[in-house]
Amino acid sequence: MPELPTNFDPGIHDPNWPAHYAEPIATAQTLIDSSDRTQQSLDGPWHFAIDQYDTCMRARWFIERDHDAEGFRLPVDFSFDEWETVPVPSCWNVLKPEWFWYEGSAVYFREVDFLPGPVGERQFLHFEGANYATYVFLNGEYVGWHRGGSTPFSFEVTGRLREHNRLLVVVRDTRRPDQLPMDDTDWFNYGGLHRGVSIVRLPTTFIRDVFVALRPGSDFGIIDVRVEVDGEAASAVVEIPELGLRQGIALNDGVGVVSLTARPELWGPGHPKRYDVRVSAADDTWSDLIGFREIRVDGTDILLNGQPIMLKGVAQHEESIERGRSLDEADIRLNFALAQDLGCNYVRLAHYPHSRASARIADEIGMLLWEEVPVYWAIDFSNPVTIADGSNQLTELIRRDRNRASVIIWSVGNENPDTDERLAFMSGLSALAHKLDPTRPTSAACLSDPSIPRLDDRLVDYIDIIGLNEYFGWYEPDITRLPLLFKNSKLTKPVIISEFGADAVLGRHGGSDEFFTEEHQLALYQQQIAVLRTIDYVKGISPWILYDFRCPRRSHVLLGYYNRKGLVDASRTRRKLAFDAMKQFYNEEHP
Ligand code: GCU
Repeated sequence: MPELPTNFDPGIHDPNWPAHYAEPIATAQTLIDSSDRTQQSLDGPWHFAIDQYDTCMRARWFIERDHDAEGFRLPVDFSFDEWETVPVPSCWNVLKPEWFWYEGSAVYFREVDFLPGPVGERQFLHFEGANYATYVFLNGEYVGWHRGGSTPFSFEVTGRLREHNRLLVVVRDTRRPDQLPMDDTDWFNYGGLHRGVSIVRLPTTFIRDVFVALRPGSDFGIIDVRVEVDGEAASAVVEIPELGLRQGIALNDGVGVVSLTARPELWGPGHPKRYDVRVSAADDTWSDLIGFREIRVDGTDILLNGQPIMLKGVAQHEESIERGRSLDEADIRLNFALAQDLGCNYVRLAHYPHSRASARIADEIGMLLWEEVPVYWAIDFSNPVTIADGSNQLTELIRRDRNRASVIIWSVGNENPDTDERLAFMSGLSALAHKLDPTRPTSAACLSDPSIPRLDDRLVDYIDIIGLNEYFGWYEPDITRLPLLFKNSKLTKPVIISEFGADAVLGRHGGSDEFFTEEHQLALYQQQIAVLRTIDYVKGISPWILYDFRCPRRSHVLLGYYNRKGLVDASRTRRKLAFDAMKQFYNEEHP
C-alpha cells in the first residue's frame, strides 16, 4: 500500500472508508432467539440526523473526539445530544415532509443506562429490522454491521456495556444493484430503524435456537425437536406439559435433536390450537406457544393436516400510510381482519419478511401465510456478495419463523428472468430452505411466457408449489388468452395464482373498459374468476393486492405515486367494487 502523504486526512481523503466497516457482520449465525426473552427495550425517542454524505463514518464521529493530543478543543460537526429526536421504531420518510423522499444514511443516537447483571451474564444488542444496512457503535467503538432490510439481527456486547452508555447507529437505505432487493422495485423504499431495538440478557450458556415441528408423513404422531445451545451443556430438556411430554436431549457440540411420540390437537384455520413448549439447558429456559400441523404437497394438491385445501388468499405489502413499514399490532390485526372479511384463509406476505408479530398473530387467529425473501425482479444473481446476502436473509427469516404454524410456504423470490444464473441462485435458496426446514414446501412467484402463453420457467422443477403471477386483462390485455396459458402449461404440481389484478382509483367510475375505474377492475376480477375456477390444479389465489400502497414508479396523474391495485384504498377504510366479487367467490365456491 503506497505511503500516505503527511497531510492525508482520513475523514476527507479516504475513498475506501467503507472497507473499515466490513467486519464484523451480524448474520443468522450470530442471531439470538429473542422471542420470549426478557428484554431491556431501547424503543422510544432517539436523537437523529440525516447524514447524506456519510460523514459520521468517514470522519468517525462515533469516537466523539473533541480535543486534540495537546488538549486543545476541536470544532465538531455533530451534536448528538442536541439533535432533534425521532421515535424508534419508525421510518424517517413519514416523520417530516422534507425526509419523505430521502434515501441515504442517517444517524441515530441515544444514551443507555445499564445495571450490571450477575457474573457470567451475556448481553446482546438486538434489532428486529432496519432498512437496509445498519452500523452499530457503542461507547466510541465499532460493534459491527448487518445487511438486509427486513430480518432480525443481534450483536454480542458482553463486557462492553457500562452503567451509562452512548449508543450510535447508522442506517443506510440507499438502493444498490447488488442488494436484495436491488435498486428497482415496485414499492416505496422506507428507511430507518423500522422495528424494535433492545438489550437481551442471557446466561453464560443459553439456548440460541429451538425448532419444534410435527414431522410430515408421521400420521401426525411425531414431534421433532432440535435445540441449539451456546456454551457448555451436555443436555437439554424439552417439555410440552399439556401433552404430558418431558424428554431429555443429549447435546453434541451444542446441538441436540429428539423425536417425541404425541397426538396433539392439530392447528389450522378455525382451530388455531397452540401448546406451551418449554426447553431448558444449564441455567437457561426458553418457551413458546406452538401450533402443530402438517403441510405437504401430494400431486397437484396442497394438504393441510392430510386434507386438500384451497388457499383463498390475498397479497399484501407491510405498509401503512401513516407509519410506512413500521406497522404496529393494530395495523397487522386490521389487515388480517380485512383479509378474513374477504373470505381468506391465507395471505401472501409480499415481497420481503414482514414483522415477527405478523406470523405470531396469524398463529393466534388461524391464518395461513406465504413468507418471502426480496429476490425481486432483476437481482445480481452471479455476484457472490448477493448470493451470500440472499442465503443469509432466508436463513434469518426461517430461524425467526419456523416455529410459526401459520407459515406454510417459503418463497424464494418474485418475477425473475429465467436465466442460468437466476436458476442457480434460486434453486440454491429452495434447497437451503428445505435443509433448514424440511417441514414446509417452497415456492416462488414465476412469470409465464405471455407470447405463447405458457409457463415453462425452469425453476418449477426446484420448488414444491408453483407461484404464478399473471396479469391477463391488464398487462396482457387480451384476457380471452388466459385459458390458453393453462392449456399450454403442463403442470404436475399445485399452482397458486400469486398475483393477478388491475389498478382502480377508489371512487372513479365509468365503463368496464375504462382503465383505472372500479368497474374495469371489477370486470377483470369477474373474468379472472370465471377462468380460475375451472383450472383444477390451481390450489390457491392471492390477488394483487389487499390495499393500495406507495410506489415511486407510478407517476400517472391518476395513480399519484401509488399502486392502486388494492381491493381497498390506502387508508384501509374504503372498499372497491371488486372486493365483493372476490368475497362472493371465496364464500360461495369454497365455503
Ligand atoms: C408484479 C409485482 C408486484 C407489482 C405488480 C404490479 O407482479 O410482483 O410487486 O406491484 O406486479 O405491477 O402492480
